[in-house]
Amino acid sequence: MYCVKKITDDLIWVGANDRRLAMFEGVYSVPYGVSYNSYLLLDEKTVLFDTVDKAVRHRFMENIAEVLGTRKLDYLVVQHMEPDHSAAIEELMVKHPEMKIVCNSKTLTFLKQFFNFDIDSRSMLVGENDTLPTGKHTLQFFMAPMVHWPEVMVVYDSVDKILFSADAFGSFGALNGAIFADEVDFGNDYMDETRRYYANIVGKYGTQVRTLLEKASALDIALICPLHGFVWRKNISDIVSKYELWSHYTPEEYGVMIAYASVYGNTENAAEILACRLRDNGIKTVMYDVSVTPSSEIVSAAFRWSHLVFASTTYNAGIFVTMDELLSDLVAHNLQNRTVAIIENGTWAATSGRLIREKLQKCSNLTILDNLVSIKSGIKAEQVTQISAMADALISTFPKRDSVSDIATVDVINPLSLCKLSYGLFVLTTKDGDKDNGCIINTVNQITSTPARIAIAVHKTNYSCELIEKTGQFNVSILDTSTPFCIFEQFGFGSGRQFDKFANCGYDTRTDNGIRYVPEHTNGVISAKVVESVDCETHTMFIAKVTQAFLLSQEPSVTYQYYFDHIKPVPQIPVERKQGFVCKICGYLYEGTAIPDDYVCPLCKHGAAVFEPT
Ligand code: FEO
Repeated sequence: MYCVKKITDDLIWVGANDRRLAMFEGVYSVPYGVSYNSYLLLDEKTVLFDTVDKAVRHRFMENIAEVLGTRKLDYLVVQHMEPDHSAAIEELMVKHPEMKIVCNSKTLTFLKQFFNFDIDSRSMLVGENDTLPTGKHTLQFFMAPMVHWPEVMVVYDSVDKILFSADAFGSFGALNGAIFADEVDFGNDYMDETRRYYANIVGKYGTQVRTLLEKASALDIALICPLHGFVWRKNISDIVSKYELWSHYTPEEYGVMIAYASVYGNTENAAEILACRLRDNGIKTVMYDVSVTPSSEIVSAAFRWSHLVFASTTYNAGIFVTMDELLSDLVAHNLQNRTVAIIENGTWAATSGRLIREKLQKCSNLTILDNLVSIKSGIKAEQVTQISAMADALISTFPKRDSVSDIATVDVINPLSLCKLSYGLFVLTTKDGDKDNGCIINTVNQITSTPARIAIAVHKTNYSCELIEKTGQFNVSILDTSTPFCIFEQFGFGSGRQFDKFANCGYDTRTDNGIRYVPEHTNGVISAKVVESVDCETHTMFIAKVTQAFLLSQEPSVTYQYYFDHIKPVPQIPVERKQGFVCKICGYLYEGTAIPDDYVCPLCKHGAAVFEPT
């Protein structure tokens, strides 16, 4: 039975998924399957964009028959001749004798190499910038050689602003019912497979990918339809910005990828010690045993991380076989712009370090550190010292992160200066099972617009902090200037561990993630999913991807200053003044002659800096 998906009113996905394929192209494992995308345009002329792999040809032919109905097929545009997209061409030619094949001259050559039927009489050659009117739509052709074969071209529909992008912007992974990238949690669930696809399929051709990106930048693009993976209709810059990084061989993240080959565990031991030293210094690390993890995953990780460590035993007087394969793969994929360190092992003649270095010298612009760690069987104290020196050498190449204690002392920080920063006030809501919670925070900032990300800071003692660490999700209700003080009392005073912040509130409004939000005195609501958390000593900063956002009113947002000037009651100082310090936020009185620097208000959780003497 046919299974198709509508992309626009007259463009239908007629591709298919394969979840049984073990190795894509015979070399890349695809544990989550793969999709072969084909699109059928129903204009005055009917146009099919590419076919599919032979494994899913039957479903594909059913799909076309259903969508075409009684119409004939006028054009088959062949963007890419690799057989995972061209296997059904011959069958289509037989079934649709009127069909013309729209292709470039290189494609025609390849068609003749792959097939034996008469092609010249059925082909229509196009070149750079040529156009093909199909009725309402006009298709324009752009050559994209080596993305990923020399004949590849992409097609632009200027009416619906669709870029048919061939292999570019594709991904491993079957589609599982969705067709648009924004229907799934792409960043968490599909980005790794998209990177693995890029690195392994077109990673070698960064220059050619950049040429395609430059051509695409001149087009107004509303949809990207690749030959594998999801169609992009929202946040297109998410995937384009990744392609910018990858095609320039620019690391996505600072951190160390350690790949090791260890026969009896000693080289692994060295890798583990190194990873621990790095983590002790706050450096992100990932580790791969090259005998276990497929090379394509490690190549992909090498495209992601800024620093690479290769640790290998010596084997047959050379590099261990799986490490040798990995290094060959990295060289073949043109990896560049990384800092590299090497660990070797060899019981009687360690050569792997020198050989790894020689091999990697074929890559452009790698900085290979001199700090070789050389092991003769097991790790001795001397090697631990070498590993520590290697960790220090790696760390010294990371951007410097100043710690607070490095840059200033209390004497040179006037906390009132920091109070001059403008802040809003927000109700941060969370949920764990049936338990709802909310608290007041003043630190919510938008970091990026595409992808939309925000950062919030929450005191570590807050129950909300614990819930976010556990669930990775939260809502922010942006308070407006109509907010009465009782809202701050409701959410700001006391802990959700002891009582229900929503008791008797009279509403139960929730966003798509199931978390409550405050519908009153609130001008906007943001839902977000945590992508990273940063330990900031007293607080945890959560960097989160915005998953939903909507407006509730046009009232101005309340600022910290507005709260002080118009909302917060003047603290009731007893007639008999007690000596102490009053919290400027909530009025709590700390009794004593001096307030400790690390004091935290038990009611509103603000620090000693916001207390003033009575
Ligand atoms: Fe999906 Fe280069 O073929």
